[in-house]
Amino acid sequence: MATPYLAHFALNAPPFSKEVSDGDLWLPSSKQAVVDTLLDALTEHASVVLVGEPGVGKTCVLRALRHRIPAAGFRLTYHHNATLGRRDFYRQLCVALGLAPAATAGSLFYAVSRHVEERAEERIHPVFLIDEAHLLHQDTLDHLHILLNYAWDSRALLSLILVGLPELRERLALRRNRSLYSRIHHRLEVSSLTPDDTTEYLRLRMERAGCTREVFASDATVLLHEATVGAMRDLDRLAAAALRETARKKRKLVERDVVSHVIEADTRERER
Ligand SMILES: Nc1ncnc2c1ncn2[C@@H]1O[C@H](COP(=O)(O)OP(=O)(O)O)[C@@H](O)[C@H]1O
Ligand SMILES: [Mg+2]
Repeated sequence: MATPYLAHFALNAPPFSKEVSDGDLWLPSSKQAVVDTLLDALTEHASVVLVGEPGVGKTCVLRALRHRIPAAGFRLTYHHNATLGRRDFYRQLCVALGLAPAATAGSLFYAVSRHVEERAEERIHPVFLIDEAHLLHQDTLDHLHILLNYAWDSRALLSLILVGLPELRERLALRRNRSLYSRIHHRLEVSSLTPDDTTEYLRLRMERAGCTREVFASDATVLLHEATVGAMRDLDRLAAAALRETARKKRKLVERDVVSHVIEADTRERER
């Protein structure tokens, strides 16, 4: 498919695509701090809950963690389909761990916990990353603290990283979920971008795609920041649309009028 804006801005790839390699992820100090705390938590074999608004970069933080974590001592397993009942959840876990999915809930659970114990014997710490965890069924959530119980609840053989929207933390704080929540010692948040972050992010993604000159005018960037309230997924969509429209107008700089037009069109589209 023709993408004339790439040639117009001398880009070698779409700058705002989700296809960023783990090593190329942008890590400003706020996100670096989250990755560092995650690493510390896993080194202590602790569990973590990580929340943030949609599109602020939670899953990318997990990818940055995957890139940083020493491969030898840890085994990360990523789960993104949290919308399953307990038995299917454990069945999916078995498949992800390379185990034969057993028939009954009890044997599925046994297979997963046995796998965790075997990794401990090999001095490998398993980490289950559960993304979109705000969608977990209550019956799955009710059971997760049991999965963390080894040797009469005296050994930390597994870390859970539950990742989701801010309502996940509210849900975990409910009385019903206190057995699980009290076992999760690290409660982290990925914050929305600040205005300076937005400027840096736009610049960095343009650079990674081969364009080192300043393309987004500062007042256009302010508008993009206000419209996206610091969520990068929205920023990606609007920034790419602004680049396309600027190229159509044969201008070199993305200016405020173009951004304003793109935001209006995007809002109209979403209200339809
Ligand atoms: N650290 C990062 N470096 C580069 N791009 C990022 C980073 N974090 C987020 N993004 C961009 O924002 C989009 C949304 O991020 P994502 O991690 O999927 O958000 P969330 O999981 O919080 O909904 C990604 O597809 C990517 O384009
Ligand atoms: Mg995500």
